[in-house]
Amino acid sequence: MTPKGKIEVGILGATGMVGQNFIKFLQNHPWFQVKWLGASDRSAGKRYSEATAWRLDGEMPEAVRDIVVEECRPGNAPRLVFSAMDASVATEIERAFAEAGHFVVSNSKNHRMEPDVPLLIPEVNPDHLQLAPVQRRNRGWRGLIVTNPNCTTVVLTMALAALRPFGIKRVIMTSMQAISGAGYPGVAGMDINANVIPFIGGEEEKVETEPLKILGRFTGETVEPLPARISAHCNRVPVVDGHTETVSVELASKPTAEELIAAFRAFRSVPQERGLPSAPPQPLIYMEQHDRPQPRRDVERERGMSVFVGRLRPCPVLDWKFVAMGHNTVRGAAGAAVLNAELMHSEGLLET
Ligand SMILES: NC(=O)c1ccc[n+]([C@@H]2O[C@H](COP(=O)([O-])OP(=O)(O)OC[C@H]3O[C@@H](n4cnc5c(N)ncnc54)[C@H](OP(=O)(O)O)[C@@H]3O)[C@@H](O)[C@H]2O)c1
Repeated sequence: MTPKGKIEVGILGATGMVGQNFIKFLQNHPWFQVKWLGASDRSAGKRYSEATAWRLDGEMPEAVRDIVVEECRPGNAPRLVFSAMDASVATEIERAFAEAGHFVVSNSKNHRMEPDVPLLIPEVNPDHLQLAPVQRRNRGWRGLIVTNPNCTTVVLTMALAALRPFGIKRVIMTSMQAISGAGYPGVAGMDINANVIPFIGGEEEKVETEPLKILGRFTGETVEPLPARISAHCNRVPVVDGHTETVSVELASKPTAEELIAAFRAFRSVPQERGLPSAPPQPLIYMEQHDRPQPRRDVERERGMSVFVGRLRPCPVLDWKFVAMGHNTVRGAAGAAVLNAELMHSEGLLET
């Protein structure tokens, strides 16, 4: 499965917060090598180190410093491009790249809910990649757009995926979301310091719909959403990285706590079976301590690719309640997209 030479990749929106996370996550990747960087005309023509104010911990990787940033137009970019572009421009530009034959592995919300676009979490719905030929036939292009979910959706959906065998009926989720999820400069210090903001534009709608598509059934032509209902309350809190979510769930069968914890712990899937380079050995880590998971203590573990679950207990309104926490810019953005591309390579899709 390991490619003979490294596969060259480009990044659309390379100068932004998620773009920088892509560069950091792809450093020393065994299969992919960053060769091309795209951003707006404000950055085009400059070396990456001149165009970008590096906002992540540690130094900007040496290998990208001198790459000259280009405008996001198909032409010079490698066939595989990761997209971290501003949502206001992603629709048209991603489409133009797919029309020109590129594989666009996108973080942006723009195409996620289109019926022929895979919205993937490789551990949860790898079979939805079978939408690829449907999309190519519908659109008449050789390229492909594949998306990963919103950062809050990923954490919730990975935890729910382990409970699928018990029949998910209704879910209530309250999030405490990190400020890095708002990009840079994000939320003003005057607003978020010692405060909670009970509104994140568009977030609740995404978290109430995206998991149903991801947990839905591929019919051969499209995806039938899971017939469940989700109610989301999304809040911004003064945490740097890591979205924490409290979840209550109603299930069709009536499992015991031991059965549910065993299901979280046993949850494995295609990325683990195939040993994909960015797949965490254990996608869900159930923690016994009564006060965990916590973002400050747990978010960097497992390279930010596992979701941490804890505090399973009976819910007096629905059946069970628990806490889930995951890294919003890694598992919820750059790491998610890289794992999608690894799954695509392992399916032989990048060669088609
Ligand atoms: N932050 C998160 O945790 C997170 C998580 C999941 C998904 N997302 C999604 O990922 C995307 C990027 O988010 P972000 O936080 O990284 O935003 P950001 O920091 O504002 O970065 C936006 C990027 O888009 C580029 N861009 C802006 N206008 C452009 C244009 N006309 N043509 C080409 N490129 C253009 C910018 O280039 P310049 O530097 O040249 O302006 C920059 O590289 C968004 O769609 C967001 O919703 C973010």
